[in-house]
Amino acid sequence: MDGQILLPNSAAYDKLVVMRNTRVTKFPIAIALVASTSDIQKCILFARKYRLHITVQSSGHDYNGRSTEHGSFQIHLGNMTAVHINLASKRNIDGEVTCQSGTTLMNVYTEVDKYYRVFVGGNSGSVCVGGYTLGGGTSPLSRKLGLAVDNLLEVEMVTYNGTTVVANAQLTKTIDDGVIERTKNTDLFWALRGGGGGTYGIVTKYTFRLHRTVPTITSFACMYPIYRYNGELIGNKVMRKYVNLLSNMPAEWGGYLLLGGTHRKDNSIGYILIAQNYFGDTSNPGFSYMDSIKTFHPEWQIMCKYENYSSFLNYIKTSGGGSHHQEYPVNTLMRNDSFTDDWINFVISSVINANATEGTTVTATGTLLGGKSYTLHILPGVVQSVCPEYTSVHPSFRSSLMSFTMTVKWGDSDGQAMSNIHYAEDLGEKLNTFGNGMFPNNAGADVANWSREFWGRNYDRLLKVKYKWDPENIFTCRQCVGYDI
Ligand SMILES: Cc1cc2nc3c(=O)[nH]c(=O)nc-3n(C[C@H](O)[C@H](O)[C@H](O)COP(=O)(O)OP(=O)(O)OC[C@H]3O[C@@H](n4cnc5c(N)ncnc54)[C@H](O)[C@@H]3O)c2cc1C
Ligand SMILES: *[C@@H]1O[C@H](CO)[C@@H](O)[C@H](O)[C@H]1NC(C)=O
Ligand SMILES: *[C@@H]1O[C@H](CO)[C@@H](O)[C@H](O)[C@H]1NC(C)=O
Ligand SMILES: *[C@@H]1O[C@H](CO)[C@@H](O)[C@H](O)[C@H]1NC(C)=O
Ligand SMILES: *[C@@H]1O[C@H](CO)[C@@H](O)[C@H](O)[C@H]1NC(C)=O
Ligand SMILES: *[C@@H]1O[C@H](CO)[C@@H](O)[C@H](O)[C@H]1NC(C)=O
Ligand SMILES: *[C@@H]1O[C@H](CO)[C@@H](O)[C@H](O)[C@H]1NC(C)=O
Repeated sequence: MDGQILLPNSAAYDKLVVMRNTRVTKFPIAIALVASTSDIQKCILFARKYRLHITVQSSGHDYNGRSTEHGSFQIHLGNMTAVHINLASKRNIDGEVTCQSGTTLMNVYTEVDKYYRVFVGGNSGSVCVGGYTLGGGTSPLSRKLGLAVDNLLEVEMVTYNGTTVVANAQLTKTIDDGVIERTKNTDLFWALRGGGGGTYGIVTKYTFRLHRTVPTITSFACMYPIYRYNGELIGNKVMRKYVNLLSNMPAEWGGYLLLGGTHRKDNSIGYILIAQNYFGDTSNPGFSYMDSIKTFHPEWQIMCKYENYSSFLNYIKTSGGGSHHQEYPVNTLMRNDSFTDDWINFVISSVINANATEGTTVTATGTLLGGKSYTLHILPGVVQSVCPEYTSVHPSFRSSLMSFTMTVKWGDSDGQAMSNIHYAEDLGEKLNTFGNGMFPNNAGADVANWSREFWGRNYDRLLKVKYKWDPENIFTCRQCVGYDI
């Protein structure tokens, strides 16, 4: 191998084995820290010959541990981090970027920024391109530029028998000097755009559309308590005001709604944080859309401000990376009729009451989807302008306004693990009554009807593609396509 095999008696193994969610840390029999496509081919053939259970890892950020397993032979892509930018792309006027799977999103942001470009990546820079993209990929830019998979142009993958294949989009045809380059393996390409990691093969390269950046990125951050210092409950009113803005929010605005149960010295409790960013022309009328929050009961606000950044990179650097702890997220996709008063009551009481259990918190993150633009769009468009059949993410993504995740977190001791997991699962079951479908990258570990919840009517087609590309079912992970074969 060009890379190396790490066994459980080495410091390098100890470092790589720890999952970001320590609740799901497991111990493979060996970690193959691969350095080339040929390493990956060798590892797959080796594992196949000796019938080892393969796990595939890029960063180890998967909340449910789909990238590790006790006793597995782990193929680790964390050392494959190349990024190549091509501004002379024939497929996309603003250029394209090709990344290896173990590249962090921050690394890609940093490289493309040198050319005044952005790509559609997530909020946390330590996540890797690999699993993030295969699961769909939501971004602070999604309301303007679509999901990560809407921006994917091509992938390269090593299959169960060591063959390297290229797959790209049906619509992509390159005509150069009279030669037509035909599209390849469009069924696989469709499946890899949302069908989840760890099941079709090992993806070695991802090529994304680049977009020109804008001169100024403006953030809007506004925080209210849930209970004021005097005990007045205002959280429900703030939530109602905010969610009513979602249906008509200009596509240039994207970002997050965050809630938690923090207690403060002044006796106020809990927070609702609106953390958005504007990516577009600041002379558009939509630039002032969030003013209606800024002027909504300023006397209630803990803080509320606009801030300008000279690049998307400088903006994204301000978002937290996240630390190691035990956690269990649950998720649902919220449509415009999901934001009921019952939902608001449920979310607020969940984040507030969590503090009853020592050391346990419940936080919530809504990632904004949807997007209505003042200008016309060609593909990739805002999330809702992409046809549900175009990628394999749950069709509900195309009619949702928010991917809403609630996370139960606790300290590093295992004492409360079981009760916290049950608590999280109960929250998930209740949450699911409000939304429609789930985002697999943020969902719980043990979802009833997971195949329908994660992929809806796309699941049967995903399973057919799985049978075709991995006929021996050597790539498996928990609640991934083909898990129940
Ligand atoms: C702090 C934090 C922030 C996040 N923010 C966002 C966000 O903004 N938007 C969003 O959409 N998601 C977000 N996520 C969820 C994230 O997308 C998922 O955890 C994703 O699975 C991480 O992919 P990874 O490759 O980094 O992790 P890993 O744990 O290494 O892999 C995840 C899955 O992908 C598979 N996989 C990885 N690489 C390959 C490959 N090359 N070929 C085949 N299969 C592969 C693995 O087998 C596993 O099933 C966040 C997660 C965390 C912990
Ligand atoms: C690969 O991984 C090893 C062990 O973690 C590290 O020492 C080495 O620098 C890495 N190489 C590259 C090119 O990232
Ligand atoms: C790998 O599998 C594919 C499809 O099943 C087949 O076409 C190809 O010939 C195989 N290659 C090798 C090297 O076995
Ligand atoms: C929980 O409540 C206690 C006492 O009211 C407070 O000191 C603490 O900060 C709270 N913890 C969290 C995470 O909100
Ligand atoms: C940010 O930049 C825009 C466009 O130049 C400007 O209208 C706005 O006032 C600036 N906001 C801040 C907080 O500097
Ligand atoms: C909700 O969405 C549906 C379907 O997209 C639409 O017909 C309806 O008008 C929307 N309702 C609101 C309140 O925006
Ligand atoms: C799973 O789906 C089936 C069929 O759609 C339904 O009858 C059943 O109630 C669902 N189970 C759960 C736990 O949601």
